[in-house]
Amino acid sequence: MKIIVMKDYQELSEKVCELIEKQVNDQPKSVLGLATGGSPLGTYKELIKGYKKRAVDYQQVTTMNLDEYIGLDKSDPQSYHFFMRQHLFDEININPDRTYIPNGKANNQDKECERYERLIEEVGPPDLQLLGIGQNGHIGFNEPGTSFTSETHIIELAESTRKANARFFDSLEDVPKQAITMGIRSILKSEKVILIASGERKAAAIKSLLEDEPSENMPASALKNHKNVTLIVDEEAYMKV
Ligand code: GLP
Repeated sequence: MKIIVMKDYQELSEKVCELIEKQVNDQPKSVLGLATGGSPLGTYKELIKGYKKRAVDYQQVTTMNLDEYIGLDKSDPQSYHFFMRQHLFDEININPDRTYIPNGKANNQDKECERYERLIEEVGPPDLQLLGIGQNGHIGFNEPGTSFTSETHIIELAESTRKANARFFDSLEDVPKQAITMGIRSILKSEKVILIASGERKAAAIKSLLEDEPSENMPASALKNHKNVTLIVDEEAYMKV
């Protein structure tokens, strides 16, 4: 695992933006695996700035997101569909038909999982997958205990994850209890992975990721079995290592 330590969140975001822009410039038909949550917000801001300043062209790019809450409509401001439109897709020249996100409102959730996993094979897998990490080590919404051989599936969210994500909702009760997420094996299909972590609250997870043996209790540790992972952290997230 390659490790890059940046001074702070802003520098981290600029670095990740630079790597994504390079990917798109080198390979205009790239498939980008994208993440939601607070961690990639700075990166998306920089990508939008870069699109306006440097005319980076996203017309032929395809994106595949990791996950979505079960029960939220695409138009729900708390859904990851809405998040991606608001924070990136509406601001760059990407073709909306080439942006894929699991459907959290499918009538048959098992079929939706199968459909999305097939898409990862047919449209993807991503050339570059961007990942955040939960305080409990989750990637996508793969909570501790998820099998390293899992593909796209439905997951019960850990109480700690619901509490951590409650900041995006009016109240904790509004945070869905389930999500649909790419599995660990699905994520490992990507060519390259960039895992980002910023701030003190991620320091324990990063320390465990770097120092402990891979274990299903720490989903991100599955990345140690991948050949091309870059961990980009800021000094606060790295301080306990
Ligand atoms: C969320 C998302 C993950 C994200 C993680 C960390 O629940 N499903 O994809 O990486 O938790 O979130 P944040 O970046 O807001 O700390």
